[in-house]
Amino acid sequence: MKISVIGCGYLGAVHAASMAHLGHEVVGIDVDEARVATLAAGVAPFHEPGFDALLQENLPRLRFTTDMSAVKDSTVHFIAVGTPQAANGSADMTYVNQAVESLAHHLSPGDLVVGKSTVPVGTATTLAEIIAPTGAMLMWNPEFLREGFAVEDTLSPDRLVYGLPEGDRADEARDLLDTVYEAILAQGTPRLLVNYATAELVKVAANSFLATKISFINAMAEIADVTGANVTQLADAIGHDNRIGRRFLNAGIGFGGGCLPKDIRGFVARAEELGVGESLAFLKDVDDINLRRRRRVRTILEEELGDLSGKRIALWGLAFKPDSDDIRDSPALDIGESLARAGAIVTAFDPAAHGPASRRVTAAGLQDSILFAESPADAATGADGIVVATEWGVFRDQNPEAIAPLVNTPLVVDGRNCLPESQWKAAGFTYRGMGRS
Ligand code: UGA
Repeated sequence: MKISVIGCGYLGAVHAASMAHLGHEVVGIDVDEARVATLAAGVAPFHEPGFDALLQENLPRLRFTTDMSAVKDSTVHFIAVGTPQAANGSADMTYVNQAVESLAHHLSPGDLVVGKSTVPVGTATTLAEIIAPTGAMLMWNPEFLREGFAVEDTLSPDRLVYGLPEGDRADEARDLLDTVYEAILAQGTPRLLVNYATAELVKVAANSFLATKISFINAMAEIADVTGANVTQLADAIGHDNRIGRRFLNAGIGFGGGCLPKDIRGFVARAEELGVGESLAFLKDVDDINLRRRRRVRTILEEELGDLSGKRIALWGLAFKPDSDDIRDSPALDIGESLARAGAIVTAFDPAAHGPASRRVTAAGLQDSILFAESPADAATGADGIVVATEWGVFRDQNPEAIAPLVNTPLVVDGRNCLPESQWKAAGFTYRGMGRS
């Protein structure tokens, strides 16, 4: 089948290459010429395991362009543009609206437009009205991919959610998307047929639940800190209950990235618009708990070292999570900036995120106080404290015996509770975890 994907950011680029992998002829459209040129050359514009190979293998069935009219040969059109956070916390719909309005000029009767972007509930109904005069149909098909597992999540998702139009075209729309996803459905992937509003809500509800789970365990970490309990053992113990489950119960410096923080804020803003703000009032607490975790690292360092001005802090990790170079709303980078503003000299190392992080550091005017190191050991040399802010395997695997002679003060703050505590203590370090001191 001929498919277009509008928006070639994280979601769109991976989706386009994955659809080509399923055997479809795909054109990816993006307004960013540099991104289009990079993708067309078979180079991934971001760090994502497996994506370079997928892109290169499928280039014969993949094309990238800035020209929207290239969609006209396609039957199915995926909308995968971003919905960044607006100043008031709501989702900024500028790109989605522009994409659909511009796409509408090139649609033919019988075409299917499939929304994948994360949008406020109610959006699909409005967009369906814009495309109705063309004779095309609209479905909402939210995406649940995780960075670091984007290819796997796209080709082998936990479930497919089809938000179908009301009325007699629902079957036609469903059958077209079934054809696109034939190979995925053949794996036995559950497919849920719902209406537009449900499909839109599934996405933000899932991310809100995950965010709540993380903030719940981080709230327990706060209690653990004042009672002498160990939050990791607590999570293990409650996680054995299948109704609770152990995943997404890792306490630490909290969630970041381009999705969870903005999605809970956008959901709150939308509920307020709908007059049901009270229903999601708890998500503001989820957000507050999460942001408190970032401040906690600085408090621990001040407890151990006093005034931070002139202190050298090694920051292990800049990306918002391992296996990613994404620094959007990254707790790690936020902590680095806050320490630098407190007068510390931060020496950072991340296996993938130096490029985007150094641009942000320069833009913030902090380039003299946040320096970039060649390795974890290089960052730790002369440090008064090491902060583990992203749980990359390379940090977990460091030998504390080898790090100890390099540092000025043997202090490690394990912001992700990922280090082998006893080994670091045995090497002479003061170990401070999150909710396990
Ligand atoms: C998240 C969702 O997990 C995906 O299902 C969803 O499709 C995606 O957002 C999206 O909306 O596009 P992602 O942002 O890639 O995916 O990252 P997650 O794996 O959810 O992690 C988010 C943050 O939570 C990270 O900063 C991570 O370090 C943190 N986290 C995760 C914890 O602090 N504790 C945990 O136990 C798990």
